[in-house]
Amino acid sequence: MAVACPSDWLAALEARHLADLRLAEVTRALRALSSAYVERRPALTRGAALDGAGKRAAFALFYAPLHYLMTAHIVESLDPGMPSTIVDLGCGTGAAGAAWAVSCDRRPRLLGIDRHPWAVEETRWTYRQLQLDGRAKRGDVARFRPPRGDVAIIAAYVLNELRDTERIALMDTLVDASRNGTRILILEPISRGVTPWWGHARARIEGAGGRADEWDFTLDLPPLVATLDRAAGLDHRRAKARSLLIPRLRSG
Ligand SMILES: C[S@@+](CC[C@H](N)C(=O)[O-])C[C@H]1O[C@@H](n2cnc3c(N)ncnc32)[C@H](O)[C@@H]1O
Repeated sequence: MAVACPSDWLAALEARHLADLRLAEVTRALRALSSAYVERRPALTRGAALDGAGKRAAFALFYAPLHYLMTAHIVESLDPGMPSTIVDLGCGTGAAGAAWAVSCDRRPRLLGIDRHPWAVEETRWTYRQLQLDGRAKRGDVARFRPPRGDVAIIAAYVLNELRDTERIALMDTLVDASRNGTRILILEPISRGVTPWWGHARARIEGAGGRADEWDFTLDLPPLVATLDRAAGLDHRRAKARSLLIPRLRSG
């Protein structure tokens, strides 16, 4: 099955985020955002990445479709199953959880959690656009308490924004939840500079019966994502990522 972003969603994203901004402004903001992700790590824990209309538009128009595509590829390859509910931790615009939900024949309910109010609103909008049964709320993932039942938790590109103590506490929570049958899927960039803690997280997940994978995909980028990619001097035609998965170990 070919993995692609839903075209209606992409068209609605363009209409929403290019209404008041020119492409050159979004490109400039994308450069700043990508340098914040790679170099200015402390700013991320203060939530600065999503400050300002330009960076928000860049995130929604560029990173959200990219994360949607990466998640869709990884879910298709790992086949982690069809839960009744997907909780999307650090949901951003909701793209990663939505990609998993859209891949399921029987669409799960979604719950997006993010500390940033803009992200919560944007996730609600994404779920509506994709006709998904979801809600989103503000919350700190470090204090997250998982619901019981036929649940999956996805944490895409968020663990690297947490402080060490927060990430370790969340890993404890996720591993505990997996013992009740909750599926856990973690996605992160491949760069060791961004995820120096990966070896520890990997050992915890493998020790709990999970698996670790590295991915190198050739992506069919949507036209606007490809334009922004080139204009900002990036290159995401080949995209790399890594994932940790604990499948459903037993009925919850
Ligand atoms: C790089 S974005 C990834 C968003 C989304 N998961 C995706 O794949 O597109 C990281 C998100 O995590 C959120 N975040 C960071 N730390 C958080 C925390 N402690 N609690 C809740 N959300 C957090 C940020 O606000 C941001 O929306």
